[in-house]
Amino acid sequence: MNKQIILLPGDGIGKEIMEAAKAILNTIASEYGHRFTFHQHAIGGDAYEQCGTPLPEDTVKACQSADAILLGAVGDKKYDSLPPHLRPEKGLLGIRKALELYANLRPIKGFTPLMHASPLKESVINGSDILIVRELTGGLYFGKPRERRENGLAAIDTLYYHRSEIERIVERGFQSAQLRNKYLTSVDKANVLESSRMWREIVNKKSKEFPEVTVDHLLVDAAAMKLVTNPNSFDVIVTENLFGDILSDEASVLTGSLGMLPSASLRSDGVGLYEPVHGSAPDIAGKGIANPLAMILSAAMMLRHSFQMIEEADAIELAVNAALDQGYYTPDLDIPNGKQIGTKEMTEVVIENLTNKS
Ligand code: NAI
Ligand code: MG
Repeated sequence: MNKQIILLPGDGIGKEIMEAAKAILNTIASEYGHRFTFHQHAIGGDAYEQCGTPLPEDTVKACQSADAILLGAVGDKKYDSLPPHLRPEKGLLGIRKALELYANLRPIKGFTPLMHASPLKESVINGSDILIVRELTGGLYFGKPRERRENGLAAIDTLYYHRSEIERIVERGFQSAQLRNKYLTSVDKANVLESSRMWREIVNKKSKEFPEVTVDHLLVDAAAMKLVTNPNSFDVIVTENLFGDILSDEASVLTGSLGMLPSASLRSDGVGLYEPVHGSAPDIAGKGIANPLAMILSAAMMLRHSFQMIEEADAIELAVNAALDQGYYTPDLDIPNGKQIGTKEMTEVVIENLTNKS
């Protein structure tokens, strides 16, 4: 299969970890007989430097005709003084909106050699394996009006959802649950918010189409507590934009490291944007020590969700697991009695494990 992949390295460590993902995909291509054609474009601060905007028109066009998109990260303190529409994050929000990437999938799974680094007790997090399905293009982050009022003394944001926006994300949640352990937790704030009451009605209606999936409703405050006290009680969580943003960062502590978390943002036709959960890590950019594993696992998600290359995706995940089991770790991690290595070496270890396995 020949696939056109857009690469958006962005800022900071984005460029370093993108090289790692490319090397892994080239290995997969030669091991499994695929062709991946890469097209690199600018986004974020990088694009602002080159063209004066965080999201150039040709980047949007290229992404619109791609089979899938890989993104590193955007952002740096030096852009903090720019007006909001020129800031790097605008590039990211803009591309999600332009491509209608309404479903954000974040798998959160602990890696045994890293569990000791989580602030939570091993007995609590052991075995936890959660998929958060977050609505990404609606709700409070996009609703209008959004403005200052009363001479700047008041501010307003709007939590707006159309039925159709809720229906498609809820459907994605059910589909994910169907493919995993057939258990879905829908998180809302239906005791207070009208949009949540509508959300709950839609979930109950949709559940009739997925009779095998068991559904629970949970209020977001209770869900926040349960995520850290009993993470094993969750499998797939589906929720709206703001709640999903907060809960997925909270859940990330289960793994003990930001550098290990991949994500996917999907459109209904299967085209997706894949990126690590972490940011551009300006504090370590250019030093060759960035952990490439979240980016590599994001590339695996791309193979799984956009290209249906399940065997290949599994192989990458196994190779990453094996690297940690062998005791290799980048400086953001710690494996007692292991071997600390840099970005390139870690990528090579994963490639070594990939080529030995198949
Ligand atoms: P960050 O995730 O970039 O870094 C937080 C801490 O984790 C830093 O100490 C960093 O060195 C470390 N870290 C993150 N990823 C790592 C990796 N792969 N390997 C080793 N260490 C890693 O978050 P921070 O510092 O809050 O933000 C830095 C910039 O990134 C900001 O401009 C922010 O806006 C942006 N950002 C971008 C995101 C994106 O592109 N999706 C997401 C989050 C932040
Ligand atoms: Mg966040």
